[in-house]
Amino acid sequence: MDELLEALEEQIIVPRSAGTYAAEPLTAPPRKPDRGFKQSAQNRILIRGGRVVNDDRMQDADVYIEDGVIAQIGSDLHVPGGCRVIEAKGRLVIPGGIDTHTHMQLPFMGTSAIDDFYTGTRAALAGGTTMIMDFVLPSRNESLVEAYHKWRAWADPKVCCDYSFHVGVTWWGPKVTQEMEELCQVHGINSFKMFMAYKDVWQLNDTELLHAFDACKRLGALALVHAENGDVIKENSTKLLAQGITGPEGHEMSRPEEVEAEATNRACVLSNQVGCPLYVVHVMSKSAADVLSEKRRAGYVVFGETIAASLGASGSHYRHTCWRHAAAFVMGPPLRSDPTTPGHLMDLLANGDLQTTGTDNCTFSGSQKALGKDDFTKIPYGVNGVEDRMSIVWEKGVAQGKMDPCRFVAVTSTSAAKIFNIYPKKGRIAVGSDADVVVWNPHATRVISAKTHHQAVDFNIFEGMEVHGVAEWVVCGGRVVVEDGEVRVVQGSGRYIPTPVYSPTVYARTPARDAAKAWKKVEREPYTGPVYVANDASNDGTITEIEPQSVKATASYARSSVKVNQPPGGNASGSFW
Ligand code: URP
Ligand code: ZN
Ligand code: ZN
Repeated sequence: MDELLEALEEQIIVPRSAGTYAAEPLTAPPRKPDRGFKQSAQNRILIRGGRVVNDDRMQDADVYIEDGVIAQIGSDLHVPGGCRVIEAKGRLVIPGGIDTHTHMQLPFMGTSAIDDFYTGTRAALAGGTTMIMDFVLPSRNESLVEAYHKWRAWADPKVCCDYSFHVGVTWWGPKVTQEMEELCQVHGINSFKMFMAYKDVWQLNDTELLHAFDACKRLGALALVHAENGDVIKENSTKLLAQGITGPEGHEMSRPEEVEAEATNRACVLSNQVGCPLYVVHVMSKSAADVLSEKRRAGYVVFGETIAASLGASGSHYRHTCWRHAAAFVMGPPLRSDPTTPGHLMDLLANGDLQTTGTDNCTFSGSQKALGKDDFTKIPYGVNGVEDRMSIVWEKGVAQGKMDPCRFVAVTSTSAAKIFNIYPKKGRIAVGSDADVVVWNPHATRVISAKTHHQAVDFNIFEGMEVHGVAEWVVCGGRVVVEDGEVRVVQGSGRYIPTPVYSPTVYARTPARDAAKAWKKVEREPYTGPVYVANDASNDGTITEIEPQSVKATASYARSSVKVNQPPGGNASGSFW
């Protein structure tokens, strides 16, 4: 480990390929200066002596922050006196993490997630994540726009870090298309999640999925899918319960890998049929991840997100003899029992086949999970991760020599910012970018535990794991929120970040791709020979030859009638047309 860190320190600073920039400046609302953010030296910060890491290069430089944005980067900076100085020698200075997938205080399966927008975002900051992307999930027939306002009202007074929303298309109808448009044009939404599981609750059928993908394409939005075959899960669950398998192991048995891989493949095919870019959330298995790799190689515009849980834990816990322990890991799709899964997912993340890391943070206490004590289908789904994601990715990725710090930055923030069109405001240490900055100590270690974590939930799926990589200082929107490991947040100080449609990372390819793939009619002379139709009246296999132009006209246009015992295509009965 120490050799690796030394090697990183010696690393030559090499520019990589240029990134894709957001087409237009973003228009997030101004910060709220009256919420603990005084107009004083507190809003002028110098991070001195660290190594700045972006997804494409590393450089030793100081970073000067003023009024919530990065104002200067370099050495020997001219900064006003009286600014706050953070010493970062021997540390990496990285963009604040972006967790692409959380569910704070989600009302779900008869209860609500215990980490709300306050405890959840506070924990995020403690671990070096400065922005979360949460989900508005309307109930069946609920207005999407009303649900969006409801979620905003929950989040705005509580969030300690910046946040945005994906919106669930949890049912289908003409009103949904109109509301999707309003959400994109007025409310800064550029991504919609469709469910292929949760039968009779949120699941869409294939025709509805096609329509939803089509709507996303027309709006320049990104289609997100939860890829699992909900019909298979429902059937398997019924059979398992009938056989007396009621414990958490039944959860995993009801939805094996191929159930995820099949849906992943189907989602790729359906979205590709309508030319809609696709982002598969919470990729949990090797085979589902391999489907995405294969499709990307075949030119499909698909992106894959994996999560801290699948990189840092395994499905063996479902067989734990303590019910509470086993139930704590229940989530959909489930963790996989194949012990090579976390390593494989990390390999794909490192080589670019998977692009982002979220957490699916959706936490329930032991007594909430106990709603399913006699029936695994009633255990509320969800695990923690928002606080530990950055450390898990560092430990399993960088510390194992699978990825370098630039790729670490890419998969923890930059790729998300590009895909969801908030780059380079987010996901980059650059002049003009939001001052969401983490001073990351790659040498430091910590042991993860529910006893010390900042989340409200009483269990941590990474309990006892020692991880390298600690967020020692965290600056969010120009405010120091983690100070030498101490968390100091202000409730409600985070901002809602609108995500504009037509992300260049997602959509720049589509016009040319659509043109290249467009259906082309074959120009030919019209057919002028005889046309045969069945004789309706006789119903005995007799067919009538009619003029080609008279096919849609009445039988009185018939020219001749020929009795045929075995007409081509078999005996016709009734009218074929
Ligand atoms: O287990 C999970 N994933 N809970 C949250 C809902 C979802 O499907 O993302
Ligand atoms: Zn999901
Ligand atoms: Zn989720």
